[in-house]
Amino acid sequence: MWGGRFGLDPDESLWSFTVDHSDRRLLVDDITGSIAHVNMLERVGLVTTEDATTLTGGLETVLDEAQAGSFGFESSDEDVHSAVERRLGELIGEVAGRLHTGRSRNDQVCLDLRMYLRRSAKDRREQLGRFAALLVDVADRADGVIVPSYTHLQQAQAIPFGHHLLAYAWMVLRDRDRFGEVIPRLDVSPLGAGAAGGSSLPLDPKSVASELGFTSTFSNSLDAVASRDFVAEYAFCCAQAMAHLSRLSEDLILWSSYEFSWVTLDDRFSTGSSALPHKKNPDVAELARGKAATVNGDVVALLSLQKGLPLSYNRDLQEDKRAVFHADDTLNLALTALAGLLDTMSLHPPSPSPWVAALDLAEALTLRGVPFRSAHTAVGSLVARLVADGRSLAEATAEDLTAADPRFDTADISLIEPQRSVESRVTPGGGSVDAVQAQISAIREMLS
Ligand code: ARG
Repeated sequence: MWGGRFGLDPDESLWSFTVDHSDRRLLVDDITGSIAHVNMLERVGLVTTEDATTLTGGLETVLDEAQAGSFGFESSDEDVHSAVERRLGELIGEVAGRLHTGRSRNDQVCLDLRMYLRRSAKDRREQLGRFAALLVDVADRADGVIVPSYTHLQQAQAIPFGHHLLAYAWMVLRDRDRFGEVIPRLDVSPLGAGAAGGSSLPLDPKSVASELGFTSTFSNSLDAVASRDFVAEYAFCCAQAMAHLSRLSEDLILWSSYEFSWVTLDDRFSTGSSALPHKKNPDVAELARGKAATVNGDVVALLSLQKGLPLSYNRDLQEDKRAVFHADDTLNLALTALAGLLDTMSLHPPSPSPWVAALDLAEALTLRGVPFRSAHTAVGSLVARLVADGRSLAEATAEDLTAADPRFDTADISLIEPQRSVESRVTPGGGSVDAVQAQISAIREMLS
């Protein structure tokens, strides 16, 4: 492809260092982009109708091979673009040499990657929507299940279990939206930018862009071939979603432990130990947590790749694909495996500790006009007294309450039930049964 200027063949060490196979998944997009490019060349008169027919006919055959999985790469192919051109030459001969008219692999690779990511952003967006819907279903099925909420991994307030899962549903919905919001920035065709500065040929970037379904074309050819913010941003979308899945995974790992015993994972979504016969391990969740770290690495790689690169295209940029494909594949697989785990786990959390009603007692006083700080002190002294006596809040009596503060009512003793605590919660979006139902409806409505 570029041998004309060279007297010697590339050294084996150069070849194995510079050739990258991670772009092979761009094969179909590369051929589709080439067909549109040929159509444009014909429209502007840069190739004859006869040659255009030969070129598109050949490219259609290459496309069939790609779609059938029978396209053969060769070790002499430098990348996916050269592989397609080589195969086209084998099929149609010398006319294949007209394909690269007014084009460089620099704008071509950006086109392919934008087409690929535009499609996968839509896929990931839908997949995240399905995952949010599953979280909603699991929350709905857990109707009546009360658990403690946590801060500092210490029990805080009683909440419906659904409220905890729905917190993740909202995070996942934002991840879904983020993939939708990156699409307009992916949706810009770079074709026509050429190697760096455009072309002296009368190309028509707009028509090729619209044939490929792009909403706009580049405004600066250097920006078109040199920029990779669309790739880094895509990887960030993956990394943020993975961070949420990792956090959910950490909760699932805790919940499936003997110490928490909130959930039992289905056999199909657990792994065993080669040494300890009793073990049932949450490896899916652990790997989602572990792989989130590697996706963070992809974002850092993509940012570092841009930093310090002089304009415009530099071969460093070839490394973008490995990183972004890894990020995208990892998110895709993690969502699929975690969905199975969540959908099949059984839920049986023990009751929250009685202490989680402490704030409800303080709020009962506050409602009677006691300044919150005094109410907090009164309940704090009640807690200290009970702890000193070796009693829990469940064992407190109405006399203990009035001793802590005379403004307590004997009926306030009923507030120490976690169920009552949940029932007394009135904050919209707070941990009450009504708020959970409202969230379930709102999310289902958004996704419908
Ligand atoms: N394989 C290259 C990449 O992924 C394609 C562009 C090559 N351009 C060049 N001038 N060598 O970036």
